[in-house]
Amino acid sequence: MSIKIAPSVLSADFSKMGEEIATLKGCGADLVHLDVMDGVFVKNITFGPKLVEDCRKFTDLPFDAHLMIVNPEKYVGAFADAGADIITVHKEACEDKIKDVLMQIKGYNKKCGVVINPNTPVKDIQDVIEYCDMILCMSVYPGFGGQKFIDDVLFKIEELSKLIRKTGKNIDIEVDGGINLETVSRAKSAGANVIVAGSTVFNAPDRKKIIEDLRNL
Ligand code: DX5
Ligand code: ZN
Repeated sequence: MSIKIAPSVLSADFSKMGEEIATLKGCGADLVHLDVMDGVFVKNITFGPKLVEDCRKFTDLPFDAHLMIVNPEKYVGAFADAGADIITVHKEACEDKIKDVLMQIKGYNKKCGVVINPNTPVKDIQDVIEYCDMILCMSVYPGFGGQKFIDDVLFKIEELSKLIRKTGKNIDIEVDGGINLETVSRAKSAGANVIVAGSTVFNAPDRKKIIEDLRNL
């Protein structure tokens, strides 16, 4: 699977989000990772579909919307209409409804994915892996950028990798949280191919160089 780099705009300057997003393609990014937080599912609040819609015109890179919200089924339609290309929802926010929400996203002709927090075991999503285009493994507790990578998550990525291989399908494994020039190689070796990086990209003096290094290391 090819490596894709998805800068997370959580660490961008929110007062000029459009311009921040516009520069990412020239820096070599493959996706734009949009962290949507509601202050309930996580202890932080970011933005909703309006910002996604307004930023859509600044790039043709795919928008990867990571919904850290309760009752995501109420909002996936709005994010699909706003221009998200991939929509991921947390297993912990959907519980038994997870398959229905994934199907709902597919119904909008968008790619879908399930997210698991660091303490959620892979077995909790085993039954829905085959319906996903991507599985997102959180390597920090969601809510804030700049946290430390949780090493134990590497075992889950390996486990997921094996399960995905068994399905015979092309399902991406995305890793999110604490990715830097040191942790990225371990995440890739474990099997992750979509790499989210917020603070590492946006705080770097040279965003193009850091994206290249995250891809090639
Ligand atoms: C955390 C978000 C991440 C965050 C990652 O809840 O899901 O996407 O932006 O930030 P870094 O890369 O700084 O750990
Ligand atoms: Zn994220």
